[in-house]
Amino acid sequence: MPNELLHTGQRQILRTAKRFNTVACGRRFGKTTLGLAIAYSGAPGSPGALRDGLDVGWFAHGYKLLDEAWRQSLLFLKPLIKRTDKQQRRIELVTGGALDFWTLENVDAGRGRKYGVAVIDEAGLSRTLEGTWDAAIRPTLTDKKGGAWFLGTPKGRNFFWTLSQRAAIKPETWAHHTAPSAANPHIDPDEIEQAREDMPESIFQQEYLAAFLESGGGVFRHVTAAVDHTLSADPFAACMLLDGRAYLISVDWARHEDFTVLTVFDAKARAVVSCQRFNETDYITQLARLTELHKRFPTAPIVCESNNMGEPLIEILLNAGLPVTPFMTTAQSKSDIIQTLQLAFERKEIRLPAIGWLLSEFMAFEQLRRPGGGISYSAPPGGHDDGVMSVAIGWSRLFEALPKTMGARLNNL
Ligand SMILES: Nc1ncnc2c1ncn2[C@@H]1O[C@H](COP(=O)(O)OP(=O)(O)OP(=O)(O)O)[C@@H](O)[C@H]1O
Ligand SMILES: [Mg+2]
Repeated sequence: MPNELLHTGQRQILRTAKRFNTVACGRRFGKTTLGLAIAYSGAPGSPGALRDGLDVGWFAHGYKLLDEAWRQSLLFLKPLIKRTDKQQRRIELVTGGALDFWTLENVDAGRGRKYGVAVIDEAGLSRTLEGTWDAAIRPTLTDKKGGAWFLGTPKGRNFFWTLSQRAAIKPETWAHHTAPSAANPHIDPDEIEQAREDMPESIFQQEYLAAFLESGGGVFRHVTAAVDHTLSADPFAACMLLDGRAYLISVDWARHEDFTVLTVFDAKARAVVSCQRFNETDYITQLARLTELHKRFPTAPIVCESNNMGEPLIEILLNAGLPVTPFMTTAQSKSDIIQTLQLAFERKEIRLPAIGWLLSEFMAFEQLRRPGGGISYSAPPGGHDDGVMSVAIGWSRLFEALPKTMGARLNNL
């Protein structure tokens, strides 16, 4: 793609380029397209690229991204290709330059090559970026005084972030560029607004506004605003109050030193009407407590965590005729239900009784960015998150507890 076909945001980045560049942009900004344009035409700060007969190295996290880049490059460079070697992942052009593809996990990436430019795509996703950059990629740029481009969407404060700070320390050779997804004129702005509404604010800031978020804390906002003092903090005070209400019970079973937490929701009011926790209690007693609770809310479906001891316990409850459905906690399902609940707090949809331990759990609950990206959620070390999990499991199934017509109506709000 000739550089004049790049959009304004991409051209602005090229105008302010240095030899080494970090480009942190939102999803769909046009990072990969920009990388391909640079691989072909080069950029200020590099001695030249494919067009000038120099070789270029393309580095990506994992084979899947590498495959995509390979396919995109074949299309992009089509009229200029002299020879392709799929085995070696190498495209040779009539200009004399060649484009090599490497995964960042390969410690021998780029060995023996002399590149005019190195393009590292999705630099935020790689756990091995630091080692591969120092030991493998950087030496390929020595002979030609080649340039490097680290393109990606931020994933917390990992090595991509560290590199993005170099522009402030070594401004003669490093530049940092950043732009939101909305800077791509080929993406419909309504789509981006829709995404903002569909996800927690912090995820939107990262994925669409390209913010490097700090790890830790503050998953749930407006926790105190969610407290409704008309709801009783006494877990045993609540019982089937009025006809026409739809209740749901959710259960997070204890593991090791944790608590078992039983939560009751009034689905129409979107409120937690009872939440109790207990530990050091044998399973027979726990089952008896749950059965007792269900007698107070006999129309309530029950959703129980099914991991570990959960499965046999669910079996016992089903045999006793209780309307139980399982919830399997995995890293993915946990992250899904926590993000859904996060959104409920942000939109001030959920109401909680003033139960001290439960509110403390919500306020302390943390998100940690893993080194290679991705987010894990948990209580801080030494803390508990059984209350958060019980509420999150229940909230994820709340609409199923409503009569069909009402569930549809509320869902569409
Ligand atoms: N200069 C351009 N002219 C026309 N279309 C463009 C241009 N730059 C990007 N696009 C289009 O915008 C979309 C996103 O581009 P691209 O895949 O390069 O973005 P990305 O930032 O790498 O996205 P992702 O975050 O998914 O990796 C694609 O459909 C691409 O064709
Ligand atoms: Mg891309």
